[in-house]
Amino acid sequence: MDKLIVTGGARLRGELEVSGAKNSALPILCASLLTADTVVLSNVPRLHDVATMLKLLWRMGVEAERDGHKVTLRGDRISFLEAPYELVKTMRASILVLGPMLARFGQARVSLPGGCAIGQRPVDQHIKGLQAMGAEIEIEQGYINARAPKSGRLHGARIVTDMVTVTGTENLMMAAVLAEGETILENAAREPEIGDLAELLIKMGAKIVGAGTDRIVIQGVESLRGAEHAVMPDRIETGTFLCAVAATGGDVVLRAARPETLDAVIDKLREAGADIDTGPDWIQIRSAGAEHMKAVSIRTAEYPAFPTDMQAQFMALGCVSEGTSRVTETIFENRFMHVQELNRLGANIEIEGKTAVIQGVPRLSGAAVMATDLRASAGLVISGLVAEGDTTIDRIYHLDRGYEQMEKKLSAIGAKIRRASA
Ligand code: EPU
Repeated sequence: MDKLIVTGGARLRGELEVSGAKNSALPILCASLLTADTVVLSNVPRLHDVATMLKLLWRMGVEAERDGHKVTLRGDRISFLEAPYELVKTMRASILVLGPMLARFGQARVSLPGGCAIGQRPVDQHIKGLQAMGAEIEIEQGYINARAPKSGRLHGARIVTDMVTVTGTENLMMAAVLAEGETILENAAREPEIGDLAELLIKMGAKIVGAGTDRIVIQGVESLRGAEHAVMPDRIETGTFLCAVAATGGDVVLRAARPETLDAVIDKLREAGADIDTGPDWIQIRSAGAEHMKAVSIRTAEYPAFPTDMQAQFMALGCVSEGTSRVTETIFENRFMHVQELNRLGANIEIEGKTAVIQGVPRLSGAAVMATDLRASAGLVISGLVAEGDTTIDRIYHLDRGYEQMEKKLSAIGAKIRRASA
C-alpha cells in the first residue's frame, strides 16, 4: 500500500494547473448512458474514482476509450442494466447510473451503497424522487430493483426532497430529461457541478431551466444525441491548494481555476490573513505562513456556503493559526475522523458535538498518521507540509480517489513530498 512522506517547512512558490472536477466528471460520465450516440469529454481528471466509474459503464456495455484527459463514450450496445455490489461498495457515486438507466431502458438494478466512513449517507431521496416519476422500486437482497411504469417511460413530477442532496439532484435531473412531461425539482442542490452536468445535458438536447438554483424545471424529450463537453475545474482541489499555501506561506498562481465557485473559501482565507487575487480563470495566493494567520471559524453547509469537502483542509490550517477557531460540520455526522490524526501531530482539537474547537499551536511535529477518507487525507498532507520533520501518511489510496497526482503538483511548487510504494 502506498504512503506519502512529507517533510515540513518548505514554502510553496510557482504555478499549478487545476484538474477537472471529480464530482462533475462522475455524473457527466453517467450521462453517456442517456444516448446511443457518442459523448466526447475533455478535462476528465485521471483519478481512481473515474477509473471505477469507467469500469462500471464498461460492465454495462458502454464503449469507453480514454486518451489522457479525453474520454469518448458510446452507449449503443448496453446490455447489462446492473451496477453490482463489488463496484458500488468501492464508490458511492455509482448510484448515479440509476436515474439515466431507468429513464432510457425502463429498468435498472443497482446495489445499495451501504455504510460510509463520513456518515450514513442513505439514498432514500433518490428513490423517493424516482417513485414520484412513476418508477416501481423494490429493495431486494441489497439491490434497488427499479422499473418504469407499464408505458416503459417515466413521467414528470414535482419533487420536493427532504434535504438538499447533490447526487440526488443529479440522478433525478438525468431521469427527468427523458421522462414524459415536466419535472420540477424543488429544494435542488445548487452546487456548480449540477450546472456543469446540465450544460452537457442541454448540449445533448435536454430541456432544463434553473440548474444552479434550488428550482430546476425539466421538460422531458424522447431521445438525446451525442455531444462534446469539457469538465469544469475542480473547486475542491483548488481550495485544497489554497489552504496549503496559506499554511506554508509562499506565492502561488492556480491556473485553469473557476474563482467564482470558491467565494466562501476565498472569503475565509482572506479573513485569516491570506492575500488573494483572482482573474477570470486564475487565483493567486500570497501568504506569510500559518504563524501570521489568525484563527477563523467556519460552518459547512450546502453551496454557496462553506463546502464540507474543504472542512478538513481548513481545520489543518486552523491547527497552526493564532487563536481559537470553531469548525462546525452540518452535512455529514461523522466527518471528524481526521481530528485524532491531527492531534497525533501535536494539534489541540476537541470535539463538542458537531463542532471541533481548535486551539492554534505554534508548531506541529511530524508523525505517522493514517488517512481515513479523501478530504481527511488532504488535511493531513497540509499538516505534514507545516509540521517539523517527516509525516508519513498511510492509506493514501483515499487521496488517489480524488486528487490527480497531488504529490507531483505539490513538488512542482517546492513541497518536499514523495510517495513510497510498499
Ligand atoms: N442524504 C440523505 N438521503 C439521500 C441523500 C442524501 O439522507 O437520499 C443526506 C446525506 O446523508 C448527507 C446529506 O444528505 O447527510 C447531503 O448528502 P448529498 O446527497 O448531498 O451528498 P452526496 O451527493 O452523496 C456529494 C459529493 C460529496 C460531497 C457531498 C456534499 C459527489 C460524487 N459527492 O455527495 O463529495 O461531500 O455531495 O457536498 O458529488 C468528496 O468529494 O470527498 C465527497 C464526499
